[in-house]
Amino acid sequence: MAPSPSSPKPTVLLLLLLHLCASIATLASAQAQPLASSQAKALLRVRKLLGYPPALEPLRGAPDPCALPPTPSLAVACDGGQVTALSVRGDRDPDAAWRAALPASFSSEALFTTLARLPALARLSLVGLGAWGPLPGDKLRRLQALQQLNLSSNYFYGGVPGDLARLYSLQSLVLSRNWLNGSVPSLAGLQFLEELDVSHNRLGPAFPEVGKAVVRLVLAGNNFTGKIPAGVSALGQLQYLDVSGNRLQGWIPSSIFALPALRYINLSRNRFAGQLPATTACAEALAFVDVSANLLTGARPACMRGNSSARTVLVAGNCFADAKQQRASTYCSPGALAAVLPPPQGSGGGGQGRGKGGEIGMILAIAGAVVGGALLIALVMVVVLRRARTRHPEVSVLPKSPAAAPAKKADGWKAPAKATQKIITPADKRHASQAARVNTLEVPAYRVYTLEELQEATNNFSSSNMIKTSPLAQHYNGQLQDGSRVLVRCLRLKPKYSPQSLAPYMEIISKLRHRHLVSIIGHCIVGDQENPNIASSVYLISECVTNGSLRSHLTEWRRREMLKWPQRVSAVTGVARGIQFLHNMTAPGIVKNDLNIENILLDKTLTSKINDFNLPIISTSKNGKIFSEIPFAVHEDNDIGSAHNMEQGDKQDIYQFGLILLEVITGKPTDSQSELESLKAQLSEALTEDPDRLKDMADPAIQGTFAVDSLCTVAEIALNCTAGEPSDRPSIDDVIWNLQYSMQVQDGWASSESLGLSVKSQG
Ligand SMILES: *[C@@H]1O[C@H](CO)[C@@H](O)[C@H](O)[C@H]1NC(C)=O
Ligand SMILES: *[C@@H]1O[C@H](CO)[C@@H](O)[C@H](O)[C@H]1NC(C)=O
Ligand SMILES: *[C@@H]1O[C@H](CO)[C@@H](O)[C@H](O)[C@H]1NC(C)=O
Ligand SMILES: *[C@@H]1O[C@H](CO)[C@@H](O)[C@H](O)[C@H]1NC(C)=O
Ligand SMILES: *[C@@H]1O[C@H](CO)[C@@H](O)[C@H](O)[C@H]1NC(C)=O
Repeated sequence: MAPSPSSPKPTVLLLLLLHLCASIATLASAQAQPLASSQAKALLRVRKLLGYPPALEPLRGAPDPCALPPTPSLAVACDGGQVTALSVRGDRDPDAAWRAALPASFSSEALFTTLARLPALARLSLVGLGAWGPLPGDKLRRLQALQQLNLSSNYFYGGVPGDLARLYSLQSLVLSRNWLNGSVPSLAGLQFLEELDVSHNRLGPAFPEVGKAVVRLVLAGNNFTGKIPAGVSALGQLQYLDVSGNRLQGWIPSSIFALPALRYINLSRNRFAGQLPATTACAEALAFVDVSANLLTGARPACMRGNSSARTVLVAGNCFADAKQQRASTYCSPGALAAVLPPPQGSGGGGQGRGKGGEIGMILAIAGAVVGGALLIALVMVVVLRRARTRHPEVSVLPKSPAAAPAKKADGWKAPAKATQKIITPADKRHASQAARVNTLEVPAYRVYTLEELQEATNNFSSSNMIKTSPLAQHYNGQLQDGSRVLVRCLRLKPKYSPQSLAPYMEIISKLRHRHLVSIIGHCIVGDQENPNIASSVYLISECVTNGSLRSHLTEWRRREMLKWPQRVSAVTGVARGIQFLHNMTAPGIVKNDLNIENILLDKTLTSKINDFNLPIISTSKNGKIFSEIPFAVHEDNDIGSAHNMEQGDKQDIYQFGLILLEVITGKPTDSQSELESLKAQLSEALTEDPDRLKDMADPAIQGTFAVDSLCTVAEIALNCTAGEPSDRPSIDDVIWNLQYSMQVQDGWASSESLGLSVKSQG
């Protein structure tokens, strides 16, 4: 054992020596191989192209950019004389008005052409620099070493280039907070891609395809539609999934909650519908589940029933039967998803069918969780079942279920009632009565008036109280005994109606109360003097809204404070909600409402209300034929009551709503068809070519109060609504969705304004 004490010594020495050599080698390589001058030049050129941002100031005169100590705003890393990482964080946070964008001389093409001269770049991060323009795929593709690309918070627009799918080393791709649109190319071939964040763009409609390595998938705040593809349930590494704020719909593949690595899932603010199977399981590590603001129904699965120390669960704004802060269940009924005609008559049968469909779907869905693929069948079946029910849209006989009361909760959950046949569950009843109670807070209670009361209110229908005569009615101003002002409409009945036969009809009339309607608050039926079994007239009493019309709030700037943009968007959103209520309240819906901006009234709180909307139709079937009519005598050449016209009737409302939008944008009425066409042409040109031009077309009174994107969105809706072909016009649900989007953009802009981010507008 003698040599043993001595033997370690040479080893230690050798190790020390090796270590020394290695250190020298490292030092030597850093010093002996300075940054190639072409690379240094490229960096300086990038600085110039980006308009000399403060973040790149340290590059000026730096003898060796690679030696700069990394800071949050600038980090450069080099290897072998080549730049391998460049991270620049500017202070130009994008706003909707493009104030932080670089000047017109900027060129994204030139920027990426220069960057392509740094072929060793593995990490590139250019964030908040005001860069704009399309992403040049052919230039990006030359950066074959890229592992991380972060272009967040700029103004890049156009499509996501397909060439990105050929950067095979990519691990992280972050394009969030830009203006990109169109579909995301399939990234399924990027087998190292762990992070894809394309949130807050305008991408869609197809859900992006990604490879199996994905850990973090963030698609929030885009325009993705359709279902979550089954493939997502197979992303075994997925930890973070955020698809909130899109237009995704259909059933949620319940197995995604159980993805083994999942920690965070946010599905909020989409249109996911149906029930979550009771057997839905959540992954152990799942700490956040957000399914709020969808159209989910039924009971929550056990793992989402409440918060625990390990898991936060957000479920508000759905129609869950067992949770708080839910919408009325009518909101989530499939009919509310699209403006399709309600299912055929026979309330028991129709409702039952739906209930069974749901159950079958659910059972299949449970099976689907076990036997992958069966879920697909369930979805197909649900679709087929729904189709089967909507394919023969027979006109139903009024009245609809009385439980379908106009529901509006005080906390702002809108709940346009879909008054179609369905099984009324205790939960529905609870919702309905809750909603009705709250409703009465906003709209006076409904009651039956006596003729004497009305005579007194209108000074015996004196001509001085008469406001106008329409084909259907005389309109009077009135004042009730309690001092409240009302409007009284006098309608003449068709002879065949008796007070008894009118009862179901009046039941419907009594439901025509909604926050965004000049609501009907009572009626009075007056019989024929000779024959008390024949009703001769009906008086309808409506609330009186006295703060002027929407138009007066746009034009009478001497008398009123002009509505600013957010108030305008909120007013028209209210109108859209009123229309949605009318279209969905009965079957067939109340359409052809002769909407015009003079008939949109505002109350003291600037809540908009539709005045003088149409009245429901009575549908009767005789010998298998459907007859629809309004029970009131109308002047000739009036086609109210023809069921055939119903389908186009809702699109007529949409068209007129579009005209209102146009006036709200420009502040000016359009006087003729040719003026309208030329306005539309200008708008659509501005939208496609230069959204900034839209600013000049907007009412001068709202300058400085709008986010350009909010304005653009409303302009887009207006153009779609006024499409010549009725079938090209959107449904009211679509309109509302887009208006809400516009409002969100506006809110985001307003809050960034108030944070003072607009200071960065110079330059
Ligand atoms: C990309 O930039 C954003 C904004 O600074 C930042 O929040 C994010 O972490 C970055 N992502 C990567 C992968 O660098
Ligand atoms: C993307 O937006 C531009 C206008 O900014 C438009 O011309 C183009 O058609 C849009 N592309 C898609 C796929 O929506
Ligand atoms: C969203 O997608 C729909 C079609 O899927 C399209 O009509 C609409 O214009 C898109 N909206 C935005 C804001 O891009
Ligand atoms: C889900 O996303 C929304 C934005 O769309 C956000 O407001 C909400 O806080 C997110 N939920 C969770 C649990 O982070
Ligand atoms: C869980 O806690 C959040 C607040 O952290 C709350 O908003 C939410 O309603 C709670 N969820 C349930 C299901 O109680």
